Amino acid sequence: MTLAELARAAEGIWAQWAEAARNLQSLEELEALRVQILGRKGRLTQLFSALRELPPSEKAEAGRILNTLKERIEAALAEKKEALAQRERLERLARERYDLSLPGKWRPLGKLHPLTQVRLEIEEIFLRLGFDVATGPEIETEYYNFEALNIGPDHPARDEWDSFYLGEGVLLRTHTSPVQIRVMKERKPPVRIICPGRCFRRDNPDATHSPVFHQVELLWVEKGLTFAHLKWVIGEFVRAFFGPNYEMRFSADFFPFTEPSAQVHIRKKGTEKWLEIMGAGMVHPRVLEEVGYDPEEVTGFAFGLGIERMAMLRYGIEDIRLFWQNDLRFLSQF
Ligand code: DAH
Repeated sequence: MTLAELARAAEGIWAQWAEAARNLQSLEELEALRVQILGRKGRLTQLFSALRELPPSEKAEAGRILNTLKERIEAALAEKKEALAQRERLERLARERYDLSLPGKWRPLGKLHPLTQVRLEIEEIFLRLGFDVATGPEIETEYYNFEALNIGPDHPARDEWDSFYLGEGVLLRTHTSPVQIRVMKERKPPVRIICPGRCFRRDNPDATHSPVFHQVELLWVEKGLTFAHLKWVIGEFVRAFFGPNYEMRFSADFFPFTEPSAQVHIRKKGTEKWLEIMGAGMVHPRVLEEVGYDPEEVTGFAFGLGIERMAMLRYGIEDIRLFWQNDLRFLSQF
């Protein structure tokens, strides 16, 4: 090989590089081209081996030509490599791009039933006032549900048309008042409790009746309690639950287990209509005697309210059946 041949071959290599480089599409193709030219058996590597065949006087010039070519190709390779890498990066970014304007996958979140929310809220109000939460069985005996509460055998509530009897003398409790008796029989005064729970009555379901419903019972027994304390407690409750825009009114009523007994109404200030919220009264001396308390020693008061009724008044719900229908359009509003 002569120096002139070597120089031509070098030009040929550059031409090959320049031609191939224009059409390179990927880093893999670039690497293949590099191997073809600069690899162990590459065209330029072979040309370097051919240096040996040249006479010593031409070796320096030939070496310069080949080294210059090698440097040019290596620089061009590096530049091309960076350009291809950048292009591939951009293409990958475009492919993997997230469309942030797409609506997300909606996962419905469960929440507490409105009746549970209202019950918890009522519990919290009375826990703040120093009451404990007590519970009792839903299956009761006539003794706890009626007798101990001074409800005589001829009381209409005892009628099997009003109560669900499970057997002789055993029924589903018709109110939470029997919990009063159970708690008083277990504890010595002072007693300060509320009892939330399910109650059952043989009512045909309609907008205001449900055979299953919830009550909260309150009982406070201690030395020296008067009707004024009862009024204060209920006033605190009305303010906490309904807010400052409501006023309340007491009127005479009758319950066998309280004396005197009252019915409590509330009214939004500036409106006409009074709405009943609960029955209440001073615990009847006969009830206190029944549980072994001395009515000369302690007095007490109690009330019973319906949780459904509280929720209906609070949210303006007009049909009690909505609470049981499990219609998410209704439930999801709370
Ligand atoms: N137990 C009564 C009912 O179900 C409600 C009630 C009224 C409870 C007066 C009381 C009370 O504790 O003092 O209708």
